[in-house]
Amino acid sequence: MRRKDQAKAYGYLPGTSNQNLIAQVTRTWDHGGMSTRSRISARISAISESATLAVDAKAKAMKAADRAVIGFGAGEPDFPTPGYIVEAAIEAARDPRFHKYTPAGGLPELKQAIAAKTRRDSGYQAEASQVLVTNGGKQAVYQAFATLLDPGDEVLVVAPYWTTYPEAIKLAGGVQVDVVTDESTGYLAGVEQLEAARTDRTKVLLFVSPSNPTGAVHSREETVAIGRWAAEHGLWVVTDEIYEHLVYGGAEFTSIATAVPELGDRVVILNGVAKTYSMTGWRVGWLIGPSDVVKAATNLQSHATSNVSNVAQMAALAAVSGDLSAVAEMRTAFDRRRQTMVRMLNEIPGVFCPEPKGAFYAYPSVKELIGKELRGRRPRSSAELAELILEEAEVAVVPGEAFGTPGYFRLSYALGDDDLVEGVSRLNKLLSDAR
Ligand SMILES: Cc1ncc(COP(=O)(O)O)c(C=O)c1O
Repeated sequence: MRRKDQAKAYGYLPGTSNQNLIAQVTRTWDHGGMSTRSRISARISAISESATLAVDAKAKAMKAADRAVIGFGAGEPDFPTPGYIVEAAIEAARDPRFHKYTPAGGLPELKQAIAAKTRRDSGYQAEASQVLVTNGGKQAVYQAFATLLDPGDEVLVVAPYWTTYPEAIKLAGGVQVDVVTDESTGYLAGVEQLEAARTDRTKVLLFVSPSNPTGAVHSREETVAIGRWAAEHGLWVVTDEIYEHLVYGGAEFTSIATAVPELGDRVVILNGVAKTYSMTGWRVGWLIGPSDVVKAATNLQSHATSNVSNVAQMAALAAVSGDLSAVAEMRTAFDRRRQTMVRMLNEIPGVFCPEPKGAFYAYPSVKELIGKELRGRRPRSSAELAELILEEAEVAVVPGEAFGTPGYFRLSYALGDDDLVEGVSRLNKLLSDAR
């Protein structure tokens, strides 16, 4: 049996259950009387490459080969990390205290500062003991699901969703239940749609607003309604607040943890410095939760990675203790680019893009273009169309397949204004030829 098939048979691929987890992990495969063990476990074989990083890598490789590629794939701000943050790291690197192991769960002063920053920014009253400092938001995502889920526990995930969530849920033995939205609702799911997906096995609701990949932002009223519904049914809420400071126009960020006190101690907040302070490469994130969850997740981290690099933690301390002027500047630039991108995308025949209200992504539908003839080819999916665009127009976009909804593209507008205009103009020129 091929590894993918094995993984499917034993519940590690979407649409199957995870009940055979233990049998699956320990099974020896029999080939013609010879007992052999597979080189890679089915659990890990079932994990796919990060599609967003793959697109970015391909675009960077083409650029390195002197192709004039414009990349809309990257999920990172195009600004350098502010100088005062870099200086704090340099100072830390010179201090022998930071040359040694420190507590696995994070430097005490950083945990204090994260708790204070959270009270300042979202009003959520967290103590330092409720904070676990992780190696980027990604490790917080993995550890939150690893800590909360038993095999077979269901997690409600609104699609389109960020590519990492399914893999983290699957690895923890959880079962992802998609709540699929589209452009007609601005990619937002309401209580009714969530309730239709709830079963007696549902343990967690994943709540992400602003959303990657769609930029959708829930209003305060919607957030409260969803939080109260989750509380009423005893669900845990894992909420990813990494784009909290990137909202535009009249949109407002609402922390579900603060807005819905009824959730009590069944809420886990994920966050990090990557997007707010343009610190994607520094790898500092965190998880805030009830003390039993944080203690258990810290135990896991103490064996997996131990403390996050002290130098990076000290840079993060400078970031979260400082003001928000750097993100205010980025927000102004992103807002300008967002408006340009949405206007230009909507001028392309066959493309429809609702207005994103947060993060730094646009998520247009390209469904009308699928199956049309373009440069002698007939792409049958958004993935094939994205490939054709990369080859013909040297523009990199991430197809909706990566986010659980084929028929769409994700374009990051965290790139320079001129590149943005040039890239979308190339898209227009190419896609206008579709027949
Ligand atoms: C929604 C969301 N959460 C978490 C992260 C994790 O960020 P990092 O691991 O770089 O801190 C990202 C990064 O793209 C994201 O988009």
